[in-house]
Amino acid sequence: MSKILINVAWPYANGPIHLGHVAGSLLPPDIFCRYNRLLGNEVWMVGGSDQHGTPITVSADKEGVTPEAIAERYHDINKRSIEGLGIEYTLYNKTHCPVHFEITQYMFSRLKENGYIYEMEEDEYYCPKCSKFLPDRYVEGICPKCGAVDVRSDQCDSCGATFVPGDVLQPHCTRCGTTPEVRSSKQFALKLSAFEKPLMDELAKNTHWRSNVKAFTENFVKGGLKDRSITRDMSWGVPIPVEGDEWKSKVIYVWFDAVIGYLSATIQHARDIGKPDYWKTFWQNPDCKHYYFIGKDNIPFHSIIWPAMLMGMEDGYNLPYDIPANEYLMFGGAKLSKSRTGTNVAASAKIPRDIMHVLEKFDPEEIRYYLSVVMPDLHDSDFTWEDLETKVNNELVAALGNFYHRCLSFTHKNFGAIPANPEPDAKVTEAIAKYLADYNSHLSVCDFKKAIQDVMALAHFGNEYFNSCMPWKLIKDDKARCGAVLHDNIRIVKALCVMAWPFMPKSSERIWGFMGLPGTLEEAGIAAVDSPLPVGIKLNEPVPVYGKIDLKVLFPELYNQPEADVKPKEKKETKPRFEGPFADFRMLDLRVGQVIKVEDHPNADKLYKLTVDLGEAEPRTICAGLKAFYTPEEMLNRKAIVVSNLAPRPLRGVDSCGMLLAADDEALGGNTVALLKPSADVPPGTRFSCGFENNSGEIDYKKHFSAVTMKVTTKKDGIEGAENAPEAFAAVFDGDRAIPLSDGKGTFATVERKLIDGAGVR
Ligand code: MF3
Ligand code: ZN
Repeated sequence: MSKILINVAWPYANGPIHLGHVAGSLLPPDIFCRYNRLLGNEVWMVGGSDQHGTPITVSADKEGVTPEAIAERYHDINKRSIEGLGIEYTLYNKTHCPVHFEITQYMFSRLKENGYIYEMEEDEYYCPKCSKFLPDRYVEGICPKCGAVDVRSDQCDSCGATFVPGDVLQPHCTRCGTTPEVRSSKQFALKLSAFEKPLMDELAKNTHWRSNVKAFTENFVKGGLKDRSITRDMSWGVPIPVEGDEWKSKVIYVWFDAVIGYLSATIQHARDIGKPDYWKTFWQNPDCKHYYFIGKDNIPFHSIIWPAMLMGMEDGYNLPYDIPANEYLMFGGAKLSKSRTGTNVAASAKIPRDIMHVLEKFDPEEIRYYLSVVMPDLHDSDFTWEDLETKVNNELVAALGNFYHRCLSFTHKNFGAIPANPEPDAKVTEAIAKYLADYNSHLSVCDFKKAIQDVMALAHFGNEYFNSCMPWKLIKDDKARCGAVLHDNIRIVKALCVMAWPFMPKSSERIWGFMGLPGTLEEAGIAAVDSPLPVGIKLNEPVPVYGKIDLKVLFPELYNQPEADVKPKEKKETKPRFEGPFADFRMLDLRVGQVIKVEDHPNADKLYKLTVDLGEAEPRTICAGLKAFYTPEEMLNRKAIVVSNLAPRPLRGVDSCGMLLAADDEALGGNTVALLKPSADVPPGTRFSCGFENNSGEIDYKKHFSAVTMKVTTKKDGIEGAENAPEAFAAVFDGDRAIPLSDGKGTFATVERKLIDGAGVR
């Protein structure tokens, strides 16, 4: 067992945290912390609200309230947001609290005693119009390093450069716009210059740091470390622990106090649990590794200033072991949403990103999943709501959630308990071992993005394995064998829910609960990934733990803007939407149609104008681009499968009311087009709904039909209930599941022409 301290960047309590904070610095440490708990390590995770400095006073000025009111308001909101996301700190503290004051002043005094803090005169901005010194954010200007405009006078958010007064170009007072004077003022400075050599030596040891962090730090130190003032002319902050009236109007600089929060929060927690000295086992213990999870703009404070402060204590404090700083999460996704109409791009841009609002609409597990997948670890990454919808629906729901549910519900229904398997399948054992090894190697170096892919890869393996076992067939022929294969499938479920727990804790715990295993998932730990599955344990009735997202349903007010030019006639009643597997397929109303008349289209060379009997009162007119592939004789009297609920569309002057399904292997390199036809002589009008209840309202080709995947194949393996299908048959795919296209009563969709396997149906 090792000891680990996880330190999380302290968000300023000047506003609500948003998805950028979560992806950048709040979610990664929670994943890492949970992973370490699975390993059985003793891990504390500390952080809190950064409540001092000009970020808070600027917000307070704007609202006309006290800095304390702002700092407390957003501390509460942000603490609740963090909890709502399932991010569990050992202590989420705040900097405006007695222990933090005590420890900050203690460190200040000790560094001063050791000769690393000294008094100096410093040039500072002073606004003649406001008659005030202007610390940090009260002055903005142009970055002398990268040229960014309106950067703060203490740090450039674009390039990360840090400044002293006088550095930024064309400075102006942010309250009144006046160009400030530079006046001299008495301050305390931290003797950073004394730490150049020790920091370089330390850096040389840290070969495991991310290259961006290492390179940034190296450049910063190489450029020569300047001593920096660590006090400011303002009243909101930690008082300076030095006698004398001249210090009464000044406080300790926010960055000097904030980084001390890591130490003070650990001490606070040690006192809270009644072991006031226990913090030393984390901070003065060479065997305890310290991790700092931060955004890239915080790098110099964590890789240079804070380590210098810790060294200057000369008391054996632990230095950072790793600083996995993330890049930025970007929200510029309009370009990624081409398929949406203009109004919808605007709509998704209006979806709030602050966590309280996000949590009103989304399950935290969905947010955690998507942010893990797009985590900006090595590069900036782009967040879009459409992408979130797609990834949750196609990956989280269709692969992971689906696997969990089909295994557990099938076993629960047929066995009620975990069935036995005297000879567990070595293939499963090997797959679990392989993905677990990858997962461990990624998580141990904080590569969260790859680790979640390892989990998903195992989920895909699980779905394929389940399909290949065909338990729905075995249950009829050989119940004992069926139980044995389900046993192996549930081993994969168990492995998955443990491995997924750091990412999606709540849903993983629910899966653990459905399996009825003893103790908690966390107690069981990483060993539970590949431990033998106990037999005979009663299963609890499972429900799907993930559900599909539909942004249009979640945000009707944003997506359903009145479209002025839609004819009222086309506005049909709202269509039912379906949940669960094959939901998209169920939007289609497929029926057997018989071609009763074949004509050439009057205005289009490639089209037939067909009259098709769908068993309705009147036959329909359907235009079809089949002239190149079928003669009129081949068409006449043919039975086909027709999408009957497509919105009618005019094709060169003829209204076409439906579409004949055909498979086409062109995308696979072939040149065959083959119409689907029923495998038995069923009457026109027969529904091909695979036995599902389906939709009969009007649908849109692009939105609904294109969302469904159907292919013609000869491979029955992995397609549920395909035993009796003809040699070549059409199948419907959803995520990792597939079923043959049928009327649900034994008639399938087949083709008479030979196609390359996997030809798409359109
Ligand atoms: N409040 C700072 C920010 O939001 C981060 C402070 S992290 C700590 O950029 F080092 F101060 F703790
Ligand atoms: Zn001013």
